[in-house]
Amino acid sequence: MASELRFLGIETSCDETAAAVFTDSAQVLSSVVFNQHHVHARYGGVVPELAARAHLGRVIPVIDEALRRSETSLSDLTAIAVHHRPGLVGALVIGVSVAKMLAASLDIPLLGVSHLEGHVYAARMAAGRDIYPCVALVASGGHTVLFHAKSPLELVRLGSTRDDAAGEAFDKSSALLGLGFPGGPAIEREARMGRHGKFSLPRPMIHDGLDFSFSGLKTAVANAWRKCQAQVPATELPVARAHLAAELQMAITDVLVSKCERALALTGLKRLAVGGGVVANSLFRNRINNLSRWGIDVIIPPMEWCTDNAAMAAVAVEAWRLNRFAPPDLDAEPT
Ligand code: KG4
Ligand code: ZN
Repeated sequence: MASELRFLGIETSCDETAAAVFTDSAQVLSSVVFNQHHVHARYGGVVPELAARAHLGRVIPVIDEALRRSETSLSDLTAIAVHHRPGLVGALVIGVSVAKMLAASLDIPLLGVSHLEGHVYAARMAAGRDIYPCVALVASGGHTVLFHAKSPLELVRLGSTRDDAAGEAFDKSSALLGLGFPGGPAIEREARMGRHGKFSLPRPMIHDGLDFSFSGLKTAVANAWRKCQAQVPATELPVARAHLAAELQMAITDVLVSKCERALALTGLKRLAVGGGVVANSLFRNRINNLSRWGIDVIIPPMEWCTDNAAMAAVAVEAWRLNRFAPPDLDAEPT
C-alpha cells in the first residue's frame, strides 16, 4: 500500500447514501453512491423518513464497497469524515452516528464538514489546483446559494433562495407535468424535444440582488400547464409539454447565470466554481462555461461530482491540516 494517509468519507444528508476513500492530498481512491430515487419516485420528492430508513439499510454495505474498491481495510484509515450539515435531520443522523461509532471504535479522529463546503470543494478537486478565493454557486435540490469562497472552510454567503431551491423548482414542475422524479434530468430530457420561447415564464428576482426565489416559477408552470390541458388538443399536449419544459429550463438557467455574473461583478473576483445537482444540467453547463469568454476562470466539476457523493467530503483533509477535529458529541445540524 502507498504511504499516503487514507480517509473514509460518509454522506447521508438527503437521498444518496454515499461513501468514499480519499487520501490526505484529496485523491479519490473509491466513491460509491447508492441513490434512493426508486424509494421517492412515486411521491414526486424526497420523503425524509423514507430517506433515513433507506440510509439505515444501505450505509454499511456502501461503506464496505468503498473500502473494498480502494483495497482499504478499516485499520488503514487515519480519520473518518462526515457531512454533518446541512440536510434532512433524520438522514444526517445516520451518517453522523456511523462516523462517530467508527472513529471511536478505531480510535481515530472524526472530521465534521459541511455538505456545501463539499459541493464547492468538488470543483477544487476537479480543477486539481487551488481555486480559492472565488465566487461559488451551489444549486441543488435543497439549496441555491452564492458564496464568496475565501478558502475551503470559509464560505461567506452572498445570497440564497428565499423559498424553493432551483432543483426543487425542477422537481416540483416535473411532478406537475407528470415527468417523474428526480425532476432535473426528466425536464432536461423533455426539453430536448421542445423549444424555449413558446411559453412565457417569469425569471424571478433576476434584476434584484443576489437572492433567489423559485416558488413562483413552479406556480407559473402549473398555470400554463392547466391552461394547455384545457385549450390544446390532446394530440398536441406532448409537444406543448416539451416546449414548457424547455422554457422552464431556460428560465432557471437565465436566473442562475445572471446571479453568478452579478456576484462576480460585485466582488470583483474573476473565478467562479459551481456545484450541486442542478449543475449536472447541460444547458446550464454550456452557458456558465461561456463566461470564460469574458476572462472568468470557470470551474465545473464532472457530472458525478455535481450530484451528491462522498468524494467531496475530501474537503475534510483541509480540516485535518488545520487540526480541526470534531468533538465526540458532533451533532447533525439540519440548517
Ligand atoms: O446536489 P444534489 O444531488 O442533492 C441535494 O443536495 O439536494 O441535487 C439534487 C437536485 C435535484 O433537485 C435534481 O432534480 C437536480 O439536482 N438535478 C438536475 C439535474 N440532475 C439533477 N437539475 C437539472 N438538470 C439536471 N440534469
Ligand atoms: Zn447536495
